[in-house]
Amino acid sequence: MGIIKEIKIENFKSFKKLEVALENFNVFIGANASGKSNFISIFKFLRDIINNGLDNAISMQGGTEYLRNINIGPAENFSVEIVCDYINNEDYQIKNGNGLIETKTTEVSYFFALEFLKGKTGFKIAADRLFLKYDLLRGKNETAGTGKKEKIGEGTLTIINRSGELTSEIDIPGHLSLKKEEIFPFVNLIKELSPKGLLLETPLFHVPSGIAEILKGVSIYNFDPGQSKKAIPLSGKTELEEDGSNLALVLKNLLENKSNKKKFANLIKDVLAFVNDLEVEKFSDHSLLFRLKEVYSSNTFLPASLLSDGTINITALILTLYFTKKPLMIIEEPERNIHPYLIAKVLEMMKEVSAHKQIIVTTHNPEVLKYSFPGDILFIARDKEGYSRISRPYKNEQVKIFLENEMGMDELYTQNLLEL
Ligand SMILES: Nc1ncnc2c1ncn2[C@@H]1O[C@H](COP(=O)(O)OP(=O)(O)OP(=O)(O)O)[C@@H](O)[C@H]1O
Ligand SMILES: [Mg+2]
Repeated sequence: MGIIKEIKIENFKSFKKLEVALENFNVFIGANASGKSNFISIFKFLRDIINNGLDNAISMQGGTEYLRNINIGPAENFSVEIVCDYINNEDYQIKNGNGLIETKTTEVSYFFALEFLKGKTGFKIAADRLFLKYDLLRGKNETAGTGKKEKIGEGTLTIINRSGELTSEIDIPGHLSLKKEEIFPFVNLIKELSPKGLLLETPLFHVPSGIAEILKGVSIYNFDPGQSKKAIPLSGKTELEEDGSNLALVLKNLLENKSNKKKFANLIKDVLAFVNDLEVEKFSDHSLLFRLKEVYSSNTFLPASLLSDGTINITALILTLYFTKKPLMIIEEPERNIHPYLIAKVLEMMKEVSAHKQIIVTTHNPEVLKYSFPGDILFIARDKEGYSRISRPYKNEQVKIFLENEMGMDELYTQNLLEL
């Protein structure tokens, strides 16, 4: 699976214009109301478009009035561009009809813009296009799909939606006599969209790009230990809710598998040494409650309602980090309720897991900076005009000098020495 390596946004919530490069692990720090949650809500917006369509996604953001910046209003378009990297990715390979050649997507970028109708809440799609770079591969023994593959050429594909009419342009390596349908068999399958539909919503988008795979399943976790402490019904969604409210149910399914239970117990003991065992209790009314055995209370399991908030948070974090298959995970304030001493451990876990999936976290807690690699930190603040801006302090020469002189990023942040 690829990662989102760049995102550009214009006229969205507190942002006027934003361009930000992302890595596997990204820690966004900034004061209250600096724009951290606004930034991650772009991912929610894109997810909602895929799952519920553009109109619904806009109303889920509070309508066009609140999707765009309240000061800029309808004067400028809203736009978003997202670039995704697929190098070395086997998942996004297409076996072409002739059986000898495979198409492998190496980079995808998707851009769309909305134009607002002056004085009204309506909008129209001003631009909508998908651009991909691809490699053509041939199996060394003339059978694609087996053995080592050889790159025989590269090209680009652009799909454009103009008022519902789709056109595609392809650039095919000169020495190969291939048709565009042979490289992307589905490229001509969809010719029209509804006037308010985006490429992002079509199956066409899903097959070659894979961006949709990343975005449609993205979760923005914001754990509320109060929710996880309640008994919950036995039936329900098996995926963890973003607020952690169905933690007991998800844990129950997980702990039924012996090796998962062992792995989970080891991970949790590694952070919280006082945890002896964990289980999910099922009551006669078919409700579930998660319980822990602590070293302090020998043989008695304690119900979630009596557990500490930090314990619940760490349980939810371990579950999402190590037991979910999402390619992109966003966690708001993962260090909430967690003792400063344990924050280092939590960051270590996230960093480790980010080797396999992309992780974005937000925080305003300097303690998180203390244990983060300076290069992983993105600083978000309002500029003089009140718009949110994002920078990487590590790239700032001044900051580099401070860091060389043993001043930590956390100190620079608390003393207000980080600048945009
Ligand atoms: N459409 C909009 N236009 C302009 N400003 C907006 C818009 N929507 C939200 N804001 C502003 O964004 C701010 C909230 O930003 P956000 O929720 O991203 O903060 P945050 O950095 O997550 O803070 P915290 O650390 O408190 O969670 C508010 O001050 C609000 O006025
Ligand atoms: Mg926030």
